[in-house]
This record gives sequence, C-alpha cells and structure tokens, in this order.
Amino acid sequence: MKILVTGGAGFIGSNFIFYMLEKHPECEIVCLDLLTYAGNIKTLAPVMDRPNFKFIKGDIADREAVYKLFEDEKIDAVVNFAAESHVDRSIENPGIFLRTNVMGTQTLMDACRKYGNVRFHQVSTDEVYGDLPLDRPDLLFTEDSNIKTSSPYSASKASADLMVLAYHRTFGLPATISRCSNNYGPYQFPEKLIPLMISKALRDEKLPVYGKGINVRDWLYVGDHCSAIEAILYRGRIGDIYNVGGNNERTNIEIVKMILKELSKSEELISFVKDRAGHDLRYAIDSSKIQRELSWKPSVSFEDGIRMTIRWYLENKEWWRELLK
Ligand SMILES: NC(=O)c1ccc[n+]([C@@H]2O[C@H](COP(=O)([O-])OP(=O)(O)OC[C@H]3O[C@@H](n4cnc5c(N)ncnc54)[C@H](O)[C@@H]3O)[C@@H](O)[C@H]2O)c1
Repeated sequence: MKILVTGGAGFIGSNFIFYMLEKHPECEIVCLDLLTYAGNIKTLAPVMDRPNFKFIKGDIADREAVYKLFEDEKIDAVVNFAAESHVDRSIENPGIFLRTNVMGTQTLMDACRKYGNVRFHQVSTDEVYGDLPLDRPDLLFTEDSNIKTSSPYSASKASADLMVLAYHRTFGLPATISRCSNNYGPYQFPEKLIPLMISKALRDEKLPVYGKGINVRDWLYVGDHCSAIEAILYRGRIGDIYNVGGNNERTNIEIVKMILKELSKSEELISFVKDRAGHDLRYAIDSSKIQRELSWKPSVSFEDGIRMTIRWYLENKEWWRELLK
C-alpha cells in the first residue's frame, strides 16, 4: 500500500510515519507538507534515506500540485494530518485555518475522486463537539454528539468533517474520520501545553497558565493515536466516525504541577494569565466504539507517557530550542 501522509513533518504526522514504517515495512509512504512554522524537516531525518519514503514540499490546498502528486505517485490511501492546529493562532488569524483545514481537505478529496476513488482518512479532533460542563463527569462525547464548535480552529475542523461525510454520501468516496482527544509525546511544537511547560521549566522561565488552570482535557500518548489511525485505515467501516481517547482526564494545573515535580522545579514558576477567549471547559471522549469494533485500546498510561515525554525533551533540547529562536 502506498500511503500519502499529509502534514507528516508535524507532531502527530511524523510519529505516524515512524510508526507505520516500523510496523509495516512493506508499505510506501509519501509525505506532503508545506513546512509551515509547525513543520520541521529535521524531524524526518531518520527516515529520509529509506527507499520506501519520499518527502514532497507542498500545499494541500494547491490543486495543481496535489493533482500532479497523484498522477506521479499512484496513491492507494491518504491520511490527512495537515492542518493549522493551534487554537490561539486561530483566534488571531482565522482565514488561514479555513484555507488549509477546509479547502485543503476538499482539494485532497477531489484528487482522491479523480485518481481512482482513493481511500481517504481525515484526522479530526474532539474539539468539534465543543465542551462539557466541569460538574457533570458523567457526560462524554460520543460519535453521535452534536457538532458545537467554540474556536475558529474547531469550526474549521468540523467544516472539514462535514465535507468528508458529504463526499462519502454524495460521491461514494471511501472515507473515514477519527476524532481524537489531546495528544502529547515527542516532536510536539513547544507552543502546546505540555512541551511549552517542559521547555519553560527547563529554562526556569514563568509557566503561563490560562485562568485558574481548571480546564480539563483528556490526554492520549501520540503512539496510541497512531495505532488507532492504523486500525481505522486497515479495518474501519467506510463512512464511519471513530472517537479516540485516553480515558485520562486532567486539569491543566494538575499537568503543570506534575511536570514541575518531575523536573524538581518550584511551583513558584507558575504564573496565572488572562483566560483564552471562548476557552472550552472540559473535553471527555467516549471511545468505546473503536475499542469494541476494532479492538483498539490505549497502551501507555499517563504516568509512563509523561515521563517518556519529559525525558525526550530533556534529551532533545537542540530540536525544540531551534524552534524557539
Ligand atoms: N495535537 C493534538 O492534540 C491533536 C488532537 C486531535 C487531533 N489533532 C489533529 O491532528 C492533526 C495533526 O496535528 P498536529 O498536532 O500534529 O499538528 P502540527 O501543527 O504539529 O502539524 C501540522 C503539520 O501540517 C503542515 N501543514 C500546515 N498547513 C499545511 C498545508 N497547507 N499543506 C501541507 N502541509 C501543511 C505543517 O507544516 C505541519 O507539519 C491536525 O489535523 C489536528 O487537527 C491534533
């Protein structure tokens, strides 16, 4: 199988490429990435010389370039990670989120239709469901929960999801969608909560925490997200949505304190800052469908995952320091 992985120079996409080349050495991977601020070609250095890996710099919303790639490469499946992915940036500049996340997804699906009804998997997010109240721990998002977005980021991801479902229903595109909770692990850009806090703590800088730090997220180790996408790609029911989550809800402040403790740093580094506009309170995912139907389950506990992640950032300071220049 020849898989086009878009956004493979970013956090989850690069982890997915490493995972697939290790687990399925017979597969070929073509990575299409625009190398925005969030993409780092150096991340892919370990696989660059592999005969079954190819990197192409390009924009998923550039129709001519995408069609040329499909003509040249005879792609069997697309896994679309490419996106603008940071909520704060979507508040500053929503337009680029619509272009990449919505128009880019549509361009890729048009190519899939034109070049042999190619299998398409859309990597989406639990943020499309909006948020849940803090005082109702019994409530979880299921695949049937309403789409109720809060930020321009989540609205763009939800719009793309709706286009994927429309392309499946209207044109018979063999598509699936995964909606995953917050990921953490190696190669995450240090603007996102966990690597931001690790990198600041390691430099003894103040750790900015929104509001009172009570917002709750469900955290999943990135390797477990990769295995979930693999399961859906190979065995998922066409036209379906699968929620993916870690059953691991934590408040932001709990995470920050855990990182400081692990690094033996003082909690005095914590600095509470003005809350993000429209900040979602709680995300919590019911992933029983993928567990039941595809026998997927998370394999890394949060305690192990956070330790592995902190160790990775300690051992790879040059990777993240360069990005902060
Ligand atoms: N990080 C999370 O916790 C999380 C959780 C659920 C879902 N997701 C989704 O997973 C996907 C990957 O997230 P991530 O955290 O790895 O993001 P990331 O920001 O680390 O990486 C995004 C990658 O996409 C590339 N890119 C951006 N615009 C492009 C374009 N127009 N054409 C081609 N490439 C482009 C960037 O260069 C970068 O390499 C996104 O679709 C995101 O919505 C992320």
